[in-house]
Amino acid sequence: MDRQNTRVLKGDICCSADKNKLAAVRDGYLVCEDGLCVGVFPSLPERYGGLELEDYSGSLIVPGLVDLHIHAPQYAFRGFQMDLELLDWLNSSAFPEEARYADAEYAERAYSIFVRDLRNSPNTRACIFSTLHVPATKILMNLLEDSGLETMVGKVNMDRNCPDYLCEASAGASAEATAAWLEESLGSYAHVRPILTPRFIPACSDGLMELLSQIQKKWRLPMQSHLSENPGEIAWVRELAPQSRFYGDAYDRFGLFGGDVPTIMAHCVHCPPEEIDLIEKRGVYIAHCPQSNTNLMSGAAPVRAFLDRGMRVGLGSDIAGGASLSIFRAMADAIQVSKLRSCLAPDGLRPITMEEAFFMGTRGGGAFFGKVGSFEPGFEADAIVLDESRIPSPRELTVKERLERFIYLSGDDWVLHKYVSGRRLF
Ligand code: GUN
Ligand code: FE
Repeated sequence: MDRQNTRVLKGDICCSADKNKLAAVRDGYLVCEDGLCVGVFPSLPERYGGLELEDYSGSLIVPGLVDLHIHAPQYAFRGFQMDLELLDWLNSSAFPEEARYADAEYAERAYSIFVRDLRNSPNTRACIFSTLHVPATKILMNLLEDSGLETMVGKVNMDRNCPDYLCEASAGASAEATAAWLEESLGSYAHVRPILTPRFIPACSDGLMELLSQIQKKWRLPMQSHLSENPGEIAWVRELAPQSRFYGDAYDRFGLFGGDVPTIMAHCVHCPPEEIDLIEKRGVYIAHCPQSNTNLMSGAAPVRAFLDRGMRVGLGSDIAGGASLSIFRAMADAIQVSKLRSCLAPDGLRPITMEEAFFMGTRGGGAFFGKVGSFEPGFEADAIVLDESRIPSPRELTVKERLERFIYLSGDDWVLHKYVSGRRLF
């Protein structure tokens, strides 16, 4: 044992055992070595005796949360301009704001606020869209690297059906900019990885998708995009890609739909059965974004069905479709939306449970990053110590009650301490 690289955290420790069950040890010890969890123990094993304890007795310690889908440049307008559906909202709110990131000074200012808030949030990992601008994307990556969080960041590709002020000149120009960005950023960061990010099918020509497919193969990149989010968008894809059997097929034709390409598809609200089958077959990760789906009136994804099939599902804030950074809030939203769906939709899908929501926000999304989202041996030591001082209770609560209360009540930054891969951020 290398004592320098070993940590012991003491507190009320809780993580997902599986999607239906919590594992909790009150007054326990979380031992981490070289950035990985060794385990959670009710009393400290002798070989770790003598190490300095990081003593958070009485506080809840859970794995850091994972945001599988967020737009960093949209953080500046979260919480307003919310009365439109997706396509109108993109044109009137998202695109004009993203255009500002052509200005490096604006990007520095805006991304500094975003990264500061993300660092203070309960989330330790995130898959992030920037804009199409390479200099601003590098500013974001530099700030994230300094934050100590583990992230994937994508320069966005978009070469059609966008306003002139936010549209790449051609498929070739978009691919060239992406290659230049990759040359400069691959290997330059310890904690930030590039991820291929075609915005969505309406904004990416076939020529661009073909070039991105070549780039993906050359650099073996993971990829993220949007899928079957909103009825208006889906009807448009049907017009734009009449040869595709369904929306996901328009990615799949270019080899950009899971399989050997680790892929996140955000939303998946209105997938037809063949699309769900292909998502499952290819191991595509679904980023469920309930708050955004509510705000933009996209609908309620059939998450119960995804979970029951054992599909890969995590949670996304989808800032600024969603307004809240904390994935605890996404857990509450996922439960509530599933309850409304259960009341209103005729297909009889049961609501999801608190355990399932917690699973999606930790292990479910964490799996995209490797062994992440649990305190089981060998998992990355991402942990947060929670601040319950603002929600005092007149009686003693169980660990599960405290966690559930945190999911429903906590603000975006109610975190006392944060660890990522065993590194203490604060
Ligand atoms: N589809 C394409 N772009 C976007 C975006 O910025 N936000 C959301 N929610 N959906 C999209
Ligand atoms: Fe999105």
